[in-house]
Amino acid sequence: MWLPCGCTSKYVASSFARRTLASYLHVSGRSRCNVAAFMPEAAGLEGVSGRAALRELSVSNSESFWAAVARHRLCWSTPFHTVQDCDLSRGKIKWFEGGKLNVSVNCLDRHVHTCPERVALIWERDERGSEMKYTYGELLEMTCRLGNLLRRHGVKRGDCVTIYMPTCPLAVASMLACARIGAAHNVVFAGFSADALAERIRDGEMLLLIITVNQGVRGGKVTELKKTVDTAMQSCPTVKQVFVAMRTDNPVTMTARDIAMEEVREQKANQILEIQIQAVEDVVCEPAVMNSEDVLFLLYTSGSTGKPKGLVHTQAGYLLYAALTHRYVFSYHDGDVFGCVADIGWITGHSYVVYGPLANGATTVLFESTPIYPDPGRYWDMVERLKINQFYGAPTAIRLLLKYGDQWVNKYDRSTLKTLGSVGEPINTEAWEWYHRVVGDGRCPVVDTWWQTETGGICIAPRPSDPDAEIVPGMAMRPFFGINPVLMDTEGEVLTSNNTSGALCMAQPWPGMARTIHNNHQRFIDTYFQPYPGYFFTGDGAYRSEEGYYQITGRLDDVINVSGHRIGTAEIEDVVNQCPAVAESAVVGYTHSIKGQGVYAFVVLKKGIDVQEADLSRQLNGMVSEKIAKYASPDFIQFAKRLPKTRSGKIMRRVLRKVVESDLEGLGDLSTLDDPAAGWKNKCQCQI
Ligand code: PRX
Repeated sequence: MWLPCGCTSKYVASSFARRTLASYLHVSGRSRCNVAAFMPEAAGLEGVSGRAALRELSVSNSESFWAAVARHRLCWSTPFHTVQDCDLSRGKIKWFEGGKLNVSVNCLDRHVHTCPERVALIWERDERGSEMKYTYGELLEMTCRLGNLLRRHGVKRGDCVTIYMPTCPLAVASMLACARIGAAHNVVFAGFSADALAERIRDGEMLLLIITVNQGVRGGKVTELKKTVDTAMQSCPTVKQVFVAMRTDNPVTMTARDIAMEEVREQKANQILEIQIQAVEDVVCEPAVMNSEDVLFLLYTSGSTGKPKGLVHTQAGYLLYAALTHRYVFSYHDGDVFGCVADIGWITGHSYVVYGPLANGATTVLFESTPIYPDPGRYWDMVERLKINQFYGAPTAIRLLLKYGDQWVNKYDRSTLKTLGSVGEPINTEAWEWYHRVVGDGRCPVVDTWWQTETGGICIAPRPSDPDAEIVPGMAMRPFFGINPVLMDTEGEVLTSNNTSGALCMAQPWPGMARTIHNNHQRFIDTYFQPYPGYFFTGDGAYRSEEGYYQITGRLDDVINVSGHRIGTAEIEDVVNQCPAVAESAVVGYTHSIKGQGVYAFVVLKKGIDVQEADLSRQLNGMVSEKIAKYASPDFIQFAKRLPKTRSGKIMRRVLRKVVESDLEGLGDLSTLDDPAAGWKNKCQCQI
C-alpha cells in the first residue's frame, strides 16, 4: 500500500509523487503558473502570480493552498477528502480528514528510497570532535528495530510512550518508532526532575513505558537520568517497563521493570536466544496506517496555572507545517546541513531537529553539549567541522557568547553558513547585531522566529515567503503562509491600524496548531479560545509597526521565559508554598542580561517562624530545582511581612514587578497598601 511503482523493498515506501497532484487539484489540467519556481508545492494553484499573491491566497483561500501543499509535500497512503473542519469558537481543529499516512514513512522511507546513503543525523556528542553520522538507511533500520521492540513489549497503536533522554540518535529513533507503530510519544526534557517527570507521566493514564539512558553527559558533567527515572517510578504505578540505553560505560542498577535496550541487541549474537531476539531485531517494521488526526505526540508546557498542560499534536497537519516552515523560513535547500541546537525535549527540537528537517530529507544536527563546553568557540567549531548551512539557536546563548568576545567566533571558518535563526524569546538589538555582524560576517540573514509549543511551527518570521525581503533587527516581522495574525485591544476589538500594540491572536486555523490539551479540552478552550471568541489567543503581546511588521513584546499572562524556557510563576509558587515555614509567596520575572528573564520570589513566612533567611533561601531554591528543574530556581528571594493585594485578595504582581525593576515611581496608587513595614517595597539586595 505504501509503495510507489517499481519499488521492491518491503520497508521502502513512497506514494508521494507528482503523478497524484493533478488528479487531486480542482485545477487539474490547467497550465502551471510561475509560483512553482519558488514553491513547487503550490504549483497547481492557478492564476497566482508572484510570492505576494501566493501569500495572499494562503489566507484568503487557505483550503486550496493547504490542499495543494499537503498533496505535494506529504506521502499519503489514502488521500484526504476534507481539507479542514475547524471552528475556533469551540476549539475544534481538524485537518486533512479521510487521509491516511505514516509519519515515519514520510521522514525516512521515502528518502531511503531515493538516497539511502544521505546522512540524516549528525550527532554532535558532548565530547568535541567525536561526532557520529547516521544515514537515512541506518536511521530507518534503528527505527524499525525499536518499533519491533516496542510492539513485542505490548505497545499498541494509541498507547503513549514517555521518552526521557538527552538529544541523541536513539531518542530520535524512539520518537520515530512510536510514530511507526502508531503510538504517541511524550518527550520529557532530560533536565526535568523526578517529580516533574512523574507528574507528566501520571497526567495520562495511558502512559505505559519509558525510554531512557543510564546517564546523560552535557558540558562534561554526568547526570543520573536512570536514577531520576527510578525515583519518579515510585509514584507512577502504571509504568510497566523502562527501556534503558547506555550513553556511558558506567553500569546502572536494573530492576525487574527495566529492559536493557542494547543488551537485547548484543544477545543477537548469542545463539541460545537467537529466536527470541531475532524478531526484536528485525529491520522490517510494517508502518501503522494512521489517520491524519490521530495523536502524534504530547508535549507538556507551562501555563499560568500550576499544572503543566500536555498539548496534543496530530499526524498530518503538524508534519506538513513543520516541513513547510523548515523549508521556507530558513531558505533550506536540498543537501544543506541544518543545525538547530535545541534539545529534543522542547517543541523546537521536535519541529526543527526532528520532524521538519527529516520530512524534507535534510541532514540534521543533534547537539548534546552546551555553547561554552569545552570553550566558548563550541558552536562555531561545530559549524566549521560539520559544514552547517543554517544555524538555529536561542538569544540567551548569543548574549552569553557575545560577552566572551569575537575571537571565539573568528577562529573558525563559517563560510558555509547561509541563514542564522533565533527562537524562544525576544532577541535584543545588541545580540541581533553581533549575531549578524560577527557570526554571520554581515552576509547571513538573521531570522527571528516567533512561535510556541501550541503553534507547532514558526508563525511569524522575517522572510517566510521572500528570501530577499527587508529585515529589521529584533523583529519577527511577517506571518508565514496561511497565518493571519490580529492584534486585540483590551475591549476585545480587533485593532485595524498600524503602529499599535495589542494581544496577539490568530484569526484563522492552520494545520500545525495543537488540537487539545490531553485529558482537558475545556482548559484548551478556556485558555486559547475563550479570551477572544473566534480567535486563537497566543498569550503574547505584540506591536505592529507602521509598515505592518510584528514585534513580540512578551507574555501577557503569568508565564515567564528563563533562557528561552517557559515557566509559569504559579508552578514555582506551588513548590515554595510547600515549605512548612512559608505562608504565601509571589513570583515575578525580571530582566536578566543573559537569561532574558530571571526568577524573583517574594516570600511571607508563617507567624512565629524564626529561621536564618539565607538558610531558608537555599532550602527553597533546592526545592524548586528538585521539584521542577534547575532553571526555575529563583535568583532572588525576598522575605516580606505581607504581599500587596487587591481588596478581593488578589496579589498585585504588577506592583511587585515594578519593585523588582526599581521603578518605585511607577507603583501607582497604593493608598491601601502603602505600609513601609510590609517589606516588599524595597528591592532585595542579596542574590542566591
Ligand atoms: O512568549 C513567546 C516566546 O516563547 C513563548 C513560547 O514558548 P514555548 O512554547 O516554550 O516555545 C518556545 C519555542 C518556540 C511564546 O509565547 N517566544 C518564542 N519565540 C519568540 C518569543 N518571544 C519573542 N520573540 C520570539 N522570536
